[in-house]
Amino acid sequence: MKKIIYLSCFAALVLTGCKEKIDSIGPLSPNYNLTELEERLDTIPYFPTAYNMPVIDGLPPVEVPADNPMTEEGVRLGRFLFYETELSIDNTVSCGSCHHVDKAFTDGLDFSIGVNGARTTRNSMSLINIAYSEKQNSIHNLMWDGSFSTLEQQILEGPVTNSLEMANTWEEVETRLRAHNHYPRMFRQAFGITDKSEINRELVAKAIAQFERTLNSAASRYDQHEFVPFEYMDEQELRGMQLFIGDAGSVNAGKDGECAHCHSFTRDKAVFGRFNFSNNGLDSTGNSFMFPDPGFGAVTGNIGDNGKFKEVTLRNIALTAPYMHDGRFNTLEEVMDHYVSIGHGTSSPNVSNELTTAPDLPNLTQQEQDDIVAFLHALTDTSYVNKVEWSDPFSQENPWQENQ
Ligand code: HEC
Ligand code: HEC
Repeated sequence: MKKIIYLSCFAALVLTGCKEKIDSIGPLSPNYNLTELEERLDTIPYFPTAYNMPVIDGLPPVEVPADNPMTEEGVRLGRFLFYETELSIDNTVSCGSCHHVDKAFTDGLDFSIGVNGARTTRNSMSLINIAYSEKQNSIHNLMWDGSFSTLEQQILEGPVTNSLEMANTWEEVETRLRAHNHYPRMFRQAFGITDKSEINRELVAKAIAQFERTLNSAASRYDQHEFVPFEYMDEQELRGMQLFIGDAGSVNAGKDGECAHCHSFTRDKAVFGRFNFSNNGLDSTGNSFMFPDPGFGAVTGNIGDNGKFKEVTLRNIALTAPYMHDGRFNTLEEVMDHYVSIGHGTSSPNVSNELTTAPDLPNLTQQEQDDIVAFLHALTDTSYVNKVEWSDPFSQENPWQENQ
């Protein structure tokens, strides 16, 4: 790849007289004034390298939108922008502030903290395998309430301008990025722009979405178990797995915890979430108007959807406490207590009948509940925690240097 860049720089040199290696300025001090030549983008080679999406055992291929093909340069720019606090009005908050890699890209809080200490109204969500949430046949794919369809849309309409998150305007973000010492060059390399004025919100969203579509991993003990049974999961975890799958699995061995309906289990959907919207019985309300947070209903305008939230992935669930859209449960044991209680009077108008009619769920013994929790722990994957490509580039000494 380096070779190509040098060759093309050579071509550019012949044609335009570009300075040697102009594509790798850096590290620069923040006050460095770019020369007129360095300011120009058309002298920088535009030679994007198609991003080679790793094939991950157990996960289907990621579907990439035709209008945002992934490139090495786009993913790299997206990583910088994901961790860029300049996106927020007072330069304090980045996407990474509320999505930490070591917590499967959540933040450990019930409600996240935006600029000026503002608190979000919902709990941060994991971004591992987020690309699999973008279902082609649905416009309600992302967020607890399904308010966004694609990753690009979530970035354009979500955190940057949300007053509780980054509280910025896109005009301001565009102005800052156009005036930046490094980003114009990176936008050039990723998207072939020829002038700084072409840096806009759509390209920011495309780059961050490209980065997000790389955040895929399936290297938990459960995944290893699929290939080497009985080595990676112990007896208790295997019992928990059976209860979790129940008769959704091929073998019906006794009791059914019914979890797999909504937190899909089958091998080709190894993402552990159906990603539909349902009410899992958190709030006991007399009628559909009384939910403290109407969730999906506020998005669809359908009263019958009030109280429904996204059936999220349970991969890495042990890393993403506290739980539910409002972070109301601190532990997985509390989550299990909740599910078992549904058959004992906790109810609201539209609790999913996959839960209300579950014959075994209310009767799970403490041991069986603990078994399910043990199984959930086998879904923890920390293989990516120290991955440089997913890490905050600004924690490096010279973030702008090539190949970091
Ligand atoms: C102040 C904290 C905060 C910041 C900053 C933030 N997020 Fe989030 N993120 C959240 C919260 C909270 C939710 C869930 C909100 C909801 O559903 O209402 C969320 C949800 C998401 C989702 C949906 C995940 C899913 O499974 O549906 C995506 C994608 C996402 N964020 C990406 C980003 C990106 C990209 C950025 C930066 C441009 C960002 N977030 C900045 C807190 C934050
Ligand atoms: C009818 C569908 C359905 C079934 C069945 C179901 N869940 Fe859920 N689950 C959901 C929904 C919807 C949410 C999000 C609810 C919210 O936050 O309002 C959720 C959330 C969770 C969470 C918290 C996720 C997070 O990121 O905070 C855990 C853990 C969980 N479920 C585990 C289980 C287990 C274990 C079972 C089986 C005992 C189960 N679920 C059965 C629909 C279901």
